Amino acid sequence: DDALAFACRMPKAELHLHIEGSLEPGLAFALARRNGITLPYADEAALAAAYDFDSLQSFLDLYYACADVLRTPQDFSDLMLAYLERAAADHIVHAEIFFDPQTHTARGIPIGDVIEGLDAGIEEGRARWGIDASLILCFLRHLSEDDGFTTLAEAEPWLDRIAGFGLDSSEKGHPPAKFERLFARCRALGKPVVAHAGEEGPPAYVVEALDLLGAARIDHGVRSVEDPALVERLVREAVPLTVCPLSNLRLCVFPEMTRHTLPQLLAAGAKVTVNSDDPAYFGGYLNDNIRALQAAFHFDKAAWYRIARNSFEASFASEAQKATWI
Ligand code: ADE
Ligand code: ZN
Repeated sequence: DDALAFACRMPKAELHLHIEGSLEPGLAFALARRNGITLPYADEAALAAAYDFDSLQSFLDLYYACADVLRTPQDFSDLMLAYLERAAADHIVHAEIFFDPQTHTARGIPIGDVIEGLDAGIEEGRARWGIDASLILCFLRHLSEDDGFTTLAEAEPWLDRIAGFGLDSSEKGHPPAKFERLFARCRALGKPVVAHAGEEGPPAYVVEALDLLGAARIDHGVRSVEDPALVERLVREAVPLTVCPLSNLRLCVFPEMTRHTLPQLLAAGAKVTVNSDDPAYFGGYLNDNIRALQAAFHFDKAAWYRIARNSFEASFASEAQKATWI
């Protein structure tokens, strides 16, 4: 498939990747051994066999449990470098990478250890593969807004390493409105903000993320198609959607790939991008997502070019930087 080879080789940006979700079973066991931790699984195969999810929450439970092996700055650096190696192989030249500090600070890991470890991995990845990467600090929406304010205060000494802020974790029952004040503060710091919305939650959460949080991009947003007026708005305002096809499949947002709403959103003219979300858990990295989409939808080269171009246009890189890619 000519268009598939074209899409896989094309330079791309990845804008929706949770670094904790790139923790492969092999690295999880290696870090557990290094840190003297016993994982509740006999071996890597037993852990991988547990990757059988029926909802976002069933995945999150395992994702937070596995994050317990991450203890030292070196662990975070190793995790980052492992992802960047995979990203470089998929021709990703720019990545905006989510991390969940509250998952770590709640276990007594200082936020500075998390950020400096991840940042060391980014610098090493830049040196080895020339890949450009930055960090987006995500707040966990199942926790309180006050907890988010505490985390923001803890992160203050490292704000120069933070390209923006995001909102993730359990969507249902935790609408964007819960974080309106926190996100106003993040924007007042001069940083762009994004939010997961319309993954499992309703289109109304996408509207809230735009109107109440000032989200510059919507992560997922695939349920937006249930509200035609919202799709019109996303197109009119050129709101980027960071879509993660294998994630949606594995978390049962759609029963099969042929039912995914990405083609509808793309055809409507929305600024769709393709991303891997939590590649260690969902069966693949960015090019695996592209292959899965192509098997279902057989896009042409022009569509793949549009998607790759969208990824750069939707990024938070400087205009001068973007001009080197587009
Ligand atoms: N955290 C990691 N992956 C996530 C997802 N797909 N949705 C919400 N929170 C997440
Ligand atoms: Zn996500």
